[in-house]
Parts: sequence; structure tokens; C-alpha cells
Amino acid sequence: MTKKKTKKNPFRYGIAVDDPYFVDREQELKDLDQWLTSGQSLVIYSSRRYGKTSLILKLLKQLSKRGYKTVYVDFFKVYSRSKFAELYYRSILEAMPSWEKSIRKLSALTKSIRPVFSIDQDGRPLVTLDWNKATPFPLDEILDLPQKLAGGKPWIVVFDEFQEINDLNGENFEKEMRASMIHHDKVSYVFQGSRSHMLLNMFTRKNRAFYQFGKLFELKKIPEDVQQKFLERKFRDSGIEATPDIIQEIISRSGNVPHYVQYLASAAWEHSLENDGTLDSKTLNAAIEKILINQNDYYLSYYEDLTAHQKKVLHAILQDNKNIFNAGYIEKYRLHAVSSVQRAVERFIKDGVLEKKGNIYFFTDPFFPAWLEKM
Ligand SMILES: Nc1ncnc2c1ncn2[C@@H]1O[C@H](COP(=O)(O)OP(=O)(O)O)[C@@H](O)[C@H]1O
Ligand SMILES: [Mg+2]
Repeated sequence: MTKKKTKKNPFRYGIAVDDPYFVDREQELKDLDQWLTSGQSLVIYSSRRYGKTSLILKLLKQLSKRGYKTVYVDFFKVYSRSKFAELYYRSILEAMPSWEKSIRKLSALTKSIRPVFSIDQDGRPLVTLDWNKATPFPLDEILDLPQKLAGGKPWIVVFDEFQEINDLNGENFEKEMRASMIHHDKVSYVFQGSRSHMLLNMFTRKNRAFYQFGKLFELKKIPEDVQQKFLERKFRDSGIEATPDIIQEIISRSGNVPHYVQYLASAAWEHSLENDGTLDSKTLNAAIEKILINQNDYYLSYYEDLTAHQKKVLHAILQDNKNIFNAGYIEKYRLHAVSSVQRAVERFIKDGVLEKKGNIYFFTDPFFPAWLEKM
């Protein structure tokens, strides 16, 4: 009897991934584990979609199996100090064994805060915090909780997309956090984020509250040969024929950015099903076409918002991404003054459309240039 080949798409994108969709990161998991369990705080940075959230959530799961208390707060959800306090409080509560006991314990530790509890539709505890509104929110009571609760093992606390704190009038909030956290010898903190420049400024500038607070760690792409092996295995095991060359092409067309590799592999897999289970270059191109169609509204709404000159700069960079501020370059592509090219590029970087490596500018999304080519 032959084993029936599964027909479930073996690739995932758009959400944090874990096994069986998770590729590699073995060395990173080992290193991060070792640093955090020994009490070292970390600053983890990379471009968007390299896999920071997936990696850290996998690590937290691994640590909590070994009895570590782990806490995760996503700063994309934080729009005020008190919202932060609520999310943090709730995540701390979830790290503890029995809610009932924990609630009593937490309440005893936060004298000027009265937690108000309910249960949401999914059975998770919902908590809002009440305090004497005539005084500022006593954030320090919440910040000190992990330190006060920790026993023999350090608590592991993750703040994802932490640079967003800058939008909450960062400086004071930052100072306040640091003032408490500097005394926490029983907590390992992870500050991570995708806007690397902003995040690094927070930890490397002398005048910033978190100056040298954690060890810097850049999350790189997954090595190409590891991606290659993973894709080959997943295509094979799900009954799709794909040569090493065509798989190599998936990786190169997606710039080997983990998210886009999975996105393209997923689309290629779907198209291969309709091609008698074979992935060839025609199928791969059809998959890319499909992605461009899916992304069209999103790209178009961004593009339409640009000024004529910004569009010109973008198309120039599409042709040639080096030394873009040189007089020769500006003349060749008939751009305006250097300063306005700089302003345009600043905007692209801020929007996460371009990234700078040395003197060279790259498109963050490998499919966007393909879309632009067609304009
Ligand atoms: N280790 C990995 N294995 C497989 N896919 C990954 C991995 N890391 C990231 N990805 C892909 O990238 C996408 C974005 O990952 P995510 O963890 O959200 O990145 P980030 O937090 O850096 O923006 C995931 O949905 C997945 O498709
Ligand atoms: Mg993330």
C-alpha cells in the first residue's frame, strides 16, 4: 500500500510560525537561550519579516517548558502608558500558575492599583487597572512585579517592536522604565524591533535612557543552503516535483527574506498542484504574477500617495541603487536638488520601502520592484 501524499500547503506566512513550518535558527536559539537564562538582557534587531517574533515566541515556549516564567508584550498594541500597564499586567498574570492565587499575590504587590477582572470570550483573563486618577499612573508598581515575583530562575520579559515607545512620548516613558528595570537582577529583558535604526539609537546613544542596557544582537537571514534543504524536503514530502534549480530561484526571487521565501513557496506550491504536481519556471512565474496581483491594491495606494519627484527617485533607484546622491547620478536621472533626493529617500526608509546597506539602497519587499517595473 502506498502512502497517500498529503495535499496541505507546507508553507506559512503572515503570522509567527512554529513547527512544522519553522526553519532552522538552531544556533540563534542556543545563544539566546544561554544569554537569557544567565541573566543577560538583549536588544534583537533586524528588518521586518526576518523572523524575530517567530524566533522569540519559539524560545519562550521552550523556556517555559523548563520552568521559566516568560512574558511577552507587543508594543504595536501599546498606545498609552496605562495600556502598556494593562497588557503587561495581563501577560504577567498569564505566566503564573493559578489565577486566583496569583491575583491575590499581584494585588498585594501593587498597593495603589486596583485590578478589575473579567474573563473574555476565549476564557482569558481580562484586566483593567483602576487607580486614584488624581495622581499619575503608578507604573513603577507594575514594572517591579517580575523582579518581586522571581524566585531562583530569572523571569524572561520580551518587549516586541519596542521602538514604538518613541511615539508615546518616549523619553519620559523610557526613563521611567529604565529607572525601575535597572534594579532588576532577576529579570532578563529582550527589546526587539524592526526599525533597527530607531531601536539602536535608543541603546547606543549616551543621552538615551537605555544606553548600553542590553547586548545587541542582529537577526540575519536564514542561510541559503538551509532554506534550500528545507524547501526541497517540504516540496518532496507534499508530493510536488521541484528541481534544486527552481527552488534556488524561489530563494533568489524573494531575496532570501524569510517571509517572502515562504510567501512565494506557498504560491508556487498552489500553482504546482494545477500543473500535475510539477514546479517548473512557467509555474513559478505564474505564482509571482499572482502575488503581484494580490499586492496590487497595496502597492498602488502607496505609490499614488507619492509626489511626482518621489516616484522619479524610486524609479531611478530601481535602475541603479548605488551612489544615488552623486551629481552624475542626479543628472543622469534628471532628479531635482540633492536635498530633495535625500528627503525622498528618507521617506522611503521611514516607510520601510527601502533599506540602506553602506552606500547601496535595497527594496525591502522583493516583489515591489517587480511591480514597479511594470508601471
Ligand atoms: N524560522 C522561520 N522559519 C520559517 N519561516 C519563517 C521563519 N522566520 C520567519 N519566517 C517567515 O517570515 C514571516 C514573518 O516572520 P515574523 O516572525 O513575523 O518576522 P518579524 O517579527 O521579524 O517581522 C513568517 O510568517 C514566516 O512566513
Ligand atoms: Mg515581529
